[in-house]
Amino acid sequence: MTEFKPLVFSGVQPTGNLHLGNYLGAIRKFVALQENNDCIYCVVDMHALTAQLVHEDMPTQIRSITAAFLAAGIDPEKHIVFNQSQVPQHAELAWIFNCVARIGWMNRMTQFKDKAGKDREQASLGLYAYPSLMAADILVYRATHVPVGDDQKQHLELARDIAMKFNLDFHDKIVPTGLGIDIKVGEEPVHAYFPMVEPLIDGPAPRVMSLKDGSKKMSKSDPSDLSRINLMDDQDAISKKIRKAKTDPDALPSETEGLKGRPEADNLVGIFAALADKSKADVLTEFGGQQFSVFKPALIDLAVEVLAPINAEMRRLMEDPGHIDAVLRDGGARARARAEKTMNEVRDIIGFVR
Ligand code: TRP
Repeated sequence: MTEFKPLVFSGVQPTGNLHLGNYLGAIRKFVALQENNDCIYCVVDMHALTAQLVHEDMPTQIRSITAAFLAAGIDPEKHIVFNQSQVPQHAELAWIFNCVARIGWMNRMTQFKDKAGKDREQASLGLYAYPSLMAADILVYRATHVPVGDDQKQHLELARDIAMKFNLDFHDKIVPTGLGIDIKVGEEPVHAYFPMVEPLIDGPAPRVMSLKDGSKKMSKSDPSDLSRINLMDDQDAISKKIRKAKTDPDALPSETEGLKGRPEADNLVGIFAALADKSKADVLTEFGGQQFSVFKPALIDLAVEVLAPINAEMRRLMEDPGHIDAVLRDGGARARARAEKTMNEVRDIIGFVR
């Protein structure tokens, strides 16, 4: 049984500032995955239109995500870094997927329900079709592994459903052309053109919560900037935000059990652990019994140590937008060549004349 070549794909929307949650939850994983995999990392600018059509400064947003990728250590020569709109094949495959996916599937998407809010009739058609474009982003490269946050799991399941329906519906066209590969779905062997994508969700990445409310996710849309550490924050800002972070009056426990019911303490210990690449238990072995007046300065030092070099490199890169654009153009050209190969095969499978 042949197998799809492992290929990692992920995307980040160019909306708002990147924060610590994005770094620990996504970008740091992207960096680690380059070691043993072929990787494609995409700034999904077309997705950014789904909630809001006009963006204040789209070019700067796109460049700053790219700068964060590069500053964090993603190698755009060994791998591919580009912005989605440079590869129109994503949109073309998304159209085909719109015709594969069923309205009932889309209606189950919790992110659509959350983002559309009460007045669903006024949401854009793009927001509704968002998961179909996301499936196309991944499958236009026939990528197999997708590092994402927990909140994207449902979208990846939809990508599998789309891939499976395409594989089954076009089975009679895929097999004789020899374009597909035998894969196993559970115990069943299937001849497939598109792989069943696997989410890469676990790992040391914590759910990074707001510094002002340990029950809410750290978010770029939170009105209080004190609730998050942005990747562009300098040393003073990082230090001030951690000093002002909400805590409770008790000392830190010496076991993780003791973090139950203490969301703010749990969050700060989780952030420390992630930044230090340790477990929460290890952090509590070191700091159990200590007050936040001792723990917070240690956390500030660690956060500055990890984030300051990334911050400095992002600022340096942002001073040369021409260089960033050249990286994106080069990545775009390489991505386009791969995507066009897939699209030619898809056009043949569907029966479009070319
Ligand atoms: N929906 C993802 C998010 O909001 C972004 C995204 C778009 C993505 N296309 C993708 C992630 C493809 C992984 C793979 O986080």
